[in-house]
Amino acid sequence: MKLLVTGGAGYVGSVVTALLLKEGHEVTVLDDLSTGHRDAVPDGARLVVADLHEASDVLDPSVEAVLHFAGKSLVSESVRSPGLYWRTNVSGTLALLEAALCHGVRRLVFSSSAATYGEPASRAPLRETDPAVPTNPYGATKLAADHLLESWSQAYGLGAVSLRYFNVAGAFLGFGERHETETHLVPNLLKVAAGESEHARVFGTDYPTPDGTAVRDYLHVADLADAHLRALEHVRPGAFRVHNLGTGGGHSVREVIEAVRRVTGRPVPVVDSPRRPGDPAVLVAANDRARRELGWEPVRTLDRTVADAWEFARREER
Ligand code: UFG
Repeated sequence: MKLLVTGGAGYVGSVVTALLLKEGHEVTVLDDLSTGHRDAVPDGARLVVADLHEASDVLDPSVEAVLHFAGKSLVSESVRSPGLYWRTNVSGTLALLEAALCHGVRRLVFSSSAATYGEPASRAPLRETDPAVPTNPYGATKLAADHLLESWSQAYGLGAVSLRYFNVAGAFLGFGERHETETHLVPNLLKVAAGESEHARVFGTDYPTPDGTAVRDYLHVADLADAHLRALEHVRPGAFRVHNLGTGGGHSVREVIEAVRRVTGRPVPVVDSPRRPGDPAVLVAANDRARRELGWEPVRTLDRTVADAWEFARREER
């Protein structure tokens, strides 16, 4: 297929672009390089450096589908600078949808987030039908974009699939995570293992979980990328569908620290710290819908995820 990938210079966008190219698709990447990296765009993809609001200049009727990754994704930044989040994640998505409508592009796969659910009412795995009550502007803008897609689907027959990612980590096909401001647990722990930071911080040790630290559903980016290809095959004009993407199992922060020690064979000193404001105790995906409807099955373990992230981080260093 001839595809447009927005945000293809970012972490997940670059991995999915590499997989799409490997599968024989033709890819144009639209990225403003505000957080992405030019050299993260896989060879074989055409890069257009532009803002989402300029999508109309980049799209044309020969594009068969859009994979929309471009967006701002830091919770704390969204609290400090909500305008940036509403402008990029919502106004930018609206501009993209208007361009798609104008050029007759009828299929879109969207990069959404578990942040749309906010603080879950229970610790049971989250279903797509559970209430979505975001607790920060990042989650609110991702949910607003979901609503935008749904209304576009109903009014104009857009086919859209919104993929709600839980905690993504790891690397695949030579592409991985390279955030300037790194807030995520796995890369922060790997920096300690590599000797680049003295210690990592454990945010919260008094959660109502077995070891007191927060539990998350860590998904290998290769399994995540596979779900995007399946979504692309399943997306049908006129239909809008949300899918949770997670393994269905949770690991505590302490378990992830142990995995990093085990995989790297390095010491990883940690300092217990207060909770990070707004972090729920447990966030785990119920992934039955993606399994059933997309035929998706996440297969990689936490150790494999950490090992691939470690290999990528080491390669970046050389
Ligand atoms: N954590 C630490 N130390 C760190 C970093 C994180 O203890 O240095 C803890 C966090 O408090 C949390 C867990 O590790 O309990 C995972 O934190 P991440 O920052 O890696 O990921 P989040 O669960 O906060 O964020 C993910 C996505 C976001 C999304 C959010 C929804 O990365 O995009 O889930 O809640 F918004």
